[in-house]
Amino acid sequence: MDLGLKNKVAVVTGGTLGIGLATARILAREGATVVICGRSQDKLDAAIAAAKEEGILLQGKTADVTDEASFAAFSHWVWSEFGRVDILVNNAGRGSPGAALSLEKEVWQNVLDTNLTSVWNCSKVISPYMERSGGGAIVNVSSLSGRIAFTHQGAYPVSKAGVNALTRVMASELAAKNIRVVAVAPGFTETEMLKKKYGDTSFLTDTTILHRLAKPEEIGQLIAFLASDLAGYITAEVVEISGGAFQVRDPGWSWDRKND
Ligand SMILES: NC(=O)c1ccc[n+]([C@@H]2O[C@H](COP(=O)([O-])OP(=O)(O)OC[C@H]3O[C@@H](n4cnc5c(N)ncnc54)[C@H](OP(=O)(O)O)[C@@H]3O)[C@@H](O)[C@H]2O)c1
Repeated sequence: MDLGLKNKVAVVTGGTLGIGLATARILAREGATVVICGRSQDKLDAAIAAAKEEGILLQGKTADVTDEASFAAFSHWVWSEFGRVDILVNNAGRGSPGAALSLEKEVWQNVLDTNLTSVWNCSKVISPYMERSGGGAIVNVSSLSGRIAFTHQGAYPVSKAGVNALTRVMASELAAKNIRVVAVAPGFTETEMLKKKYGDTSFLTDTTILHRLAKPEEIGQLIAFLASDLAGYITAEVVEISGGAFQVRDPGWSWDRKND
């Protein structure tokens, strides 16, 4: 299927690892000009170099999505270099340690800044460029935990519930500017963030009907579709992609009895 992304310019925040990097590579393979950012120059260089070895062109600069001036400078560079912005994927994020009520205020605030306020910040900065380009699509990377309160994920579920609400707010405010805003809500996905949080993640497979974790590319494919004009009537929605996690009470049990 041709997503019709040729001549489009896409910005992917946190595009140097995991879901963001997989998304950036898919968008680039579909013909978009893809610009990524993250805080670490080393991760940025590694992502661009590895893609280049496979004939995939990614471009980018370092930027911190929690810092308005940093992301504004990055966006200005994108505009002056590429002359348009059609797609913004608000993907950059972090996990949260501990029980919510045991967190230091500084950690609580940083999780909200990185996962929620960044979506507001980056969309506020990029949407005028998008408007000048004739419109576009913003895809926010939320989480299943924006709907289901996971224990011991600190401020994370709160930040993602906020992303879901902000998605609906921005969709209504930007529709008249021909900008759609949607969120994807992944379940457990094989990335550095998940490994850092849980270490051995094998126990999580029992929470999904498909009995495995998602691959970052599977999330990226959904994001690419939602960012494309093929999804032109989809806005304000939070689209879950979780392998059926938490949709039935005992998904692991049915795999134990698959020959019954
Ligand atoms: N993995 C999962 O199971 C899962 C499930 C549901 C939702 N998600 C969401 O998916 C998104 C991506 O997660 P992931 O698992 O792919 O994470 P990851 O592998 O840890 O990658 C995170 C990316 O975000 C960047 N980043 C972090 N803080 C940043 C900041 N302040 N400014 C700019 N870039 C920043 C990182 O680069 P630098 O460190 O260099 O800045 C990196 O490129 C997040 O929003 C996460 O909440 C993940």
